[in-house]
Amino acid sequence: MPGATPNPLRSELDRRLPRIAGPSVLVLFGVTGDLARKKLLPAIYDLANRGLLPPGFGLVGFARREWEHQDFAKEAYEAVREHARTPFREDVWRQLSEGVRFVQGELHDDDAFDTLADTVRELDADRGTGGNYAFYLSLPPKLFPTVVKQLKRSGLADQREDAWRRVIIEKPFGHDLESAKELNAVVDDVFPPQSVFRIDHYLGKETVQNIMALRFANTLFEPMWNRDLVDHVQITMAEDIGVGGRAGYYDGIGAARDVIQNHLLQLLALVAMEEPVSFSADAIRTEKEKVLSAVRLPADLAAGTARGQYAPGWQGGDEVCGYLEEKGIPDDSVTETYAALRLEVNTRRWAGVPFYLRTGKRLGRRVTEVALVFRRTPNQVFSQMDTEDMGQNALVLRIQPDEGVTMRFGSKVPGAAMEVRDVTMDFTYGQSFTEASPEAYERLILDVLIGDPPLFPRQQEVELSWEILDPVEEHWAKEGRPEPYESGTWGPESADAMLAREGRQWRRP
Ligand code: BG6
Repeated sequence: MPGATPNPLRSELDRRLPRIAGPSVLVLFGVTGDLARKKLLPAIYDLANRGLLPPGFGLVGFARREWEHQDFAKEAYEAVREHARTPFREDVWRQLSEGVRFVQGELHDDDAFDTLADTVRELDADRGTGGNYAFYLSLPPKLFPTVVKQLKRSGLADQREDAWRRVIIEKPFGHDLESAKELNAVVDDVFPPQSVFRIDHYLGKETVQNIMALRFANTLFEPMWNRDLVDHVQITMAEDIGVGGRAGYYDGIGAARDVIQNHLLQLLALVAMEEPVSFSADAIRTEKEKVLSAVRLPADLAAGTARGQYAPGWQGGDEVCGYLEEKGIPDDSVTETYAALRLEVNTRRWAGVPFYLRTGKRLGRRVTEVALVFRRTPNQVFSQMDTEDMGQNALVLRIQPDEGVTMRFGSKVPGAAMEVRDVTMDFTYGQSFTEASPEAYERLILDVLIGDPPLFPRQQEVELSWEILDPVEEHWAKEGRPEPYESGTWGPESADAMLAREGRQWRRP
């Protein structure tokens, strides 16, 4: 009502209501891919199971396979049975599957897109999906131009007053700054910026969103969150798996383009940014962009970066092959499966504090964490002997798999002597909350259907991230084969040397 004063109590109540998607159709391109089977289809079911999808919901798969509607429904059923997070409920599945359709065709085929347009309109009529369509492009980016042109030609992308049309794109958003701009131009030509949702699934993780909660909802941490107290920051995303069946995607891309350009730089931005003026998408993105524009690479890229490629070794009791022996990888591949970078953030808060980022496949264990490592006390009144076990104080944000936060500090060992040793204080999600964390894709798909953009990076962030990475990639391109490291270890020696030169070492989570 114009001029009405907002009722604070009412908005309080609104926040507690579950966020439920309105009537809509999700059109999935790339339904036969790994991501659809392992993450997207199960996430859609989990949303339905949690009561967050409306009765007027449709799911349309588009692919080349000679499938009928029921074949796609069967595939989706199997994906759900195998990978869904929440228990299987026949009634939920039945309700969801009644809105499942499949369109067979090639991406360049006009007829197939006309059939798609007919299919979604039929869903509007049969299931009341309201003409609201989200197109999920779970496809290699080289296919984006064909799809978005087809969506435009068939009228499916037409923005209307009474219904929305959105597009969801998955990384990689290009392979360097130039290609990212080209890709964006293609999408931008058809969809207005507010209708483009770029998925960086790390932002959908509860523990990643908790970085902002921890920092900005508490008084405790912010005063120590700066160069006065922080010695350095380590951001680790370690995986124990190898490249698996993804050789075709991964080779030629490598660890830095695969996850540093997006997930790790997003983590850095959330850790280093200033408090946004609100939690609106624009306010958050603006703060993240300020950080990314302030990032500086080391002057000597050879000393301030490291990369490696996994060699044969042992993982979880199994003997595993090296990257070059993986199916589909050329014998002479120079793609890195491990990458580490030393960055600085040139702001008043962070000047001079190194941010060490590392990621790798076939490492010691699967763990993602952000560790703020604090300066040592300026004066140590306890004798060297009594404190020799003590490391630096640290605050560790445990992103996965053991979700939580750990504080490490020194404490007196019980006994007659004044001996001080490291202890930890832990917050663990599983112990503090009864509700399990939703999968990142549940949150992100729901946000797209609701039209809520804070967890989706905008193009500017993508471009700034490529600006950081491009010089590193150019430097590595001149260097030949990355240093081999044994599978099941913590990466190449050059990465350890990178920190050792500065009197530091990587954490062994
Ligand atoms: C993807 C990368 O973005 O993230 C994969 O392309 C990687 O290479 C995956 O395995 C890891 O995701 P998560 O959620 O398991 O840490």
